[in-house]
Amino acid sequence: MSFLLACMLVFVLAAYAATDSITPSRSIIDGDTLVSSDETYELGFFSPGSSTKRYLGIWYKVSPETVVWIANREAPLLDRSGVLNVTKEGTIILLHKKTEIIWSSSRIRTAENPVMQLLDSGNLVVTDGNDSGSANFLWQSFDLPSDTLLPMMKLGKNFITGMNWSLSSWKSPDDPAPGRFTALIDPQGFPQLVVRNGSETFYRGGSWNGERFTGTPDLKQIESANLFKFEFELNRNEVYYKGEPYPALISRLAVNQSGFLERFVRTKQSQSWLEIYFAPRDECDYYAVCGAYASCNTNNSPQLCRLAVRKGSSKNKEVAIIVIPIILIGLVWGGIVFYLRWKKLTKRGGKDDMELPVFDLDTIVKATDNFSDSNKLGQGGFGPVYKGTLPGGQEIARSRR
Ligand SMILES: *[C@@H]1O[C@H](CO)[C@@H](O)[C@H](O)[C@H]1NC(C)=O
Ligand SMILES: *[C@@H]1O[C@H](CO)[C@@H](O)[C@H](O)[C@H]1NC(C)=O
Ligand SMILES: *[C@@H]1O[C@H](CO)[C@@H](O)[C@H](O)[C@H]1NC(C)=O
Ligand SMILES: *[C@@H]1O[C@H](CO)[C@@H](O)[C@H](O)[C@H]1NC(C)=O
Ligand SMILES: *[C@@H]1O[C@H](CO)[C@@H](O)[C@H](O)[C@H]1NC(C)=O
Repeated sequence: MSFLLACMLVFVLAAYAATDSITPSRSIIDGDTLVSSDETYELGFFSPGSSTKRYLGIWYKVSPETVVWIANREAPLLDRSGVLNVTKEGTIILLHKKTEIIWSSSRIRTAENPVMQLLDSGNLVVTDGNDSGSANFLWQSFDLPSDTLLPMMKLGKNFITGMNWSLSSWKSPDDPAPGRFTALIDPQGFPQLVVRNGSETFYRGGSWNGERFTGTPDLKQIESANLFKFEFELNRNEVYYKGEPYPALISRLAVNQSGFLERFVRTKQSQSWLEIYFAPRDECDYYAVCGAYASCNTNNSPQLCRLAVRKGSSKNKEVAIIVIPIILIGLVWGGIVFYLRWKKLTKRGGKDDMELPVFDLDTIVKATDNFSDSNKLGQGGFGPVYKGTLPGGQEIARSRR
């Protein structure tokens, strides 16, 4: 009898065993999910916030579930009759009532044995059965970011294909359609991390100095704590930024609905995310808040912006009265602007270095204690950093959010 029960249980479990991939002979309907093999990510249908509309998305399989990618951001399903297929050619299609195509992936070539798989990195990919190397992806969700940058994911641009890897905020907690704010790497000149509000620059994170973006001093602390490995690559083919946390941590960088970049970390076991970084940090970070020629100083508030340009404009007036040739005015003016710009830049650098990080390093150190509990210390490249230095406790669970 118990043998029979055991057999039935095995059968039932087998039938419900989570899978991480489908082929053209199987669909995913609303209610079904794919789960990455290490159970970090799950793909399926969901409704954001108080909306009843249905979206196909990928979320961190933690509590609370945290959506990191959405296929049909701008084309929600109004009911639960969504079906996800991968076609015989290797295109992912999201169907309404099995017929109307709501969303589909692009494809660089035709597959013979297409497989759609949710990888442990959170990347949804289409491969041709025989070759699963990353160079052979027919399509990957990492090429189409939503508002969130996952570890392993690139923010930047491929100069050869013209592919942009940028983040765009949700419209509202109930509507994941692209909102006002986009975070991208502006490849002009020295590539910079930029957040735009529509077409206006809202925040500049500065250019890469070999370790981090110059406008992101907090990251210095995070990096020196060896919790993250940041990577910035600029070559003839592409420019990109990546941030990978200590192996036992999960992390996400997102641009939120008010235009802030926020980085969160947690372990799978903890009960909430811990925000370890956000930008812009102070009024001076907003692009051009003081106008192009003024200097900005947070220590100087309430007089935040010093109009350094005044000196320049009165000189300009004198010059105009004495009627010196226009070329000379241009030269003087150009020199002043150049000097002020330079002064502003150096001033920014000095101020930034003194800024304190938003997070409390102790909290993170405590948070990382979870690693030793789960015996994950020593995995991957960051290994021995924290061994034996961690205090006890589970503080991350109670920290924030
Ligand atoms: C979707 O996949 C199912 C098999 O799971 C198949 O029967 C159906 O015809 C497919 N629909 C389309 C439009 O490809
Ligand atoms: C995949 O493998 C099968 C059998 O080994 C072979 O017939 C087929 O040509 C291969 N397809 C590709 C795209 O290499
Ligand atoms: C890349 O981004 C720029 C600026 O947002 C946009 O004008 C361009 O069309 C994008 N290119 C592609 C291939 O998406
Ligand atoms: C974004 O731009 C819109 C339109 O230009 C403006 O009304 C809004 O205040 C801006 N938001 C921020 C946070 O700068
Ligand atoms: C965006 O992030 C900032 C900084 O963490 C936070 O103060 C703000 O409330 C966030 N806005 C939304 C809409 O979540």
